[in-house]
Amino acid sequence: MIRAPLRADASVLENEAMGAANRRLRLLVPGFEGFEPGQFAMLSPGAVGGALRFDPLLPRPMAIYRASSGSAGAEVEILYKVSGRGTALLAQARPGEQIRFVGPLGRPFPDLRSDRVALLVGGGTGVASLYELAVRGARLRAGAVRVLLGAKSARDLMGHADFSSLAVAVDVSTEDGSLGERGLVTEPLARWLADEPASDVYACGPTAMMRAAAALALRFGRRCFVSLENPMACGFGVCLGCAAPRRDGGFALVCRDGPVFDATIVDWERLA
Ligand SMILES: Cc1cc2nc3c(=O)[nH]c(=O)nc-3n(C[C@H](O)[C@H](O)[C@H](O)COP(=O)(O)OP(=O)(O)OC[C@H]3O[C@@H](n4cnc5c(N)ncnc54)[C@H](O)[C@@H]3O)c2cc1C
Ligand code: FES
Repeated sequence: MIRAPLRADASVLENEAMGAANRRLRLLVPGFEGFEPGQFAMLSPGAVGGALRFDPLLPRPMAIYRASSGSAGAEVEILYKVSGRGTALLAQARPGEQIRFVGPLGRPFPDLRSDRVALLVGGGTGVASLYELAVRGARLRAGAVRVLLGAKSARDLMGHADFSSLAVAVDVSTEDGSLGERGLVTEPLARWLADEPASDVYACGPTAMMRAAAALALRFGRRCFVSLENPMACGFGVCLGCAAPRRDGGFALVCRDGPVFDATIVDWERLA
């Protein structure tokens, strides 16, 4: 069920560092009633000393990792990497401070099919978009989901313990070999596509990873859905800042038409 987005002042419950530049943010969001796998929120970083700060002006899109409801509102979790000015400000938010939250936004991943194996491929911060999908797959049936997590190194890997606590198979690849298989996450993906004829691909991560996953899925004749992470300004189809090129010409707005797309509609050559 796709719910209408709400705009709320969310209270920071926790904002903990996890390895390299990664952080886990827990927010109490009044009125939040749930989300679908792959949906995101726009967070206005920079709450300092309990006062809302509007610098930088534009909010930052973040996948909703997981949420659970309580009497005072829902606890919403975000996994993020400090990569620039907005996320550096987000990292300064302390428990008790407030952050402006708009969400859930965007079109989610399609429902998993009970007669197929879903290969969930997450690279870097992209794993955050896939956790709720893994939760739902674990409920569907044993063996419905195989999660392939990739990162540069063990310190960069996000969500490994959370995914491993679900009843799903989890494979890890790191580029430096510090955890799991050495190499790119698309290498085990190619093997699983060959071994598992009734499989579909659900991918989120760096553009190069999604491009490679889409090409592999095409080669093996499988469905592939990607969650694009284009930079965004407004988050709801007004500024045109998130446009992604379509293969049939023209553009799709990642915030409004996505972020999840069937990989065959994306013009991967023109996507930056
Ligand atoms: C739907 C969606 C969901 C996302 N979910 C998450 C998430 O769960 N966790 C997370 O850590 N990040 C996520 N991102 C990416 C996140 O929004 C950006 O990393 C963030 O906006 C960067 O803001 P900044 O001010 O810190 O960096 P900036 O100062 O804006 O940029 C820092 C560097 O990152 C590059 N950059 C900026 N935005 C993006 C982007 N969207 N993709 C790739 N490179 C970018 C810039 O070119 C620059 O090199 C998501 C993006 C989208 C669109
Ligand atoms: S972010 Fe403004 S149109 Fe998509």
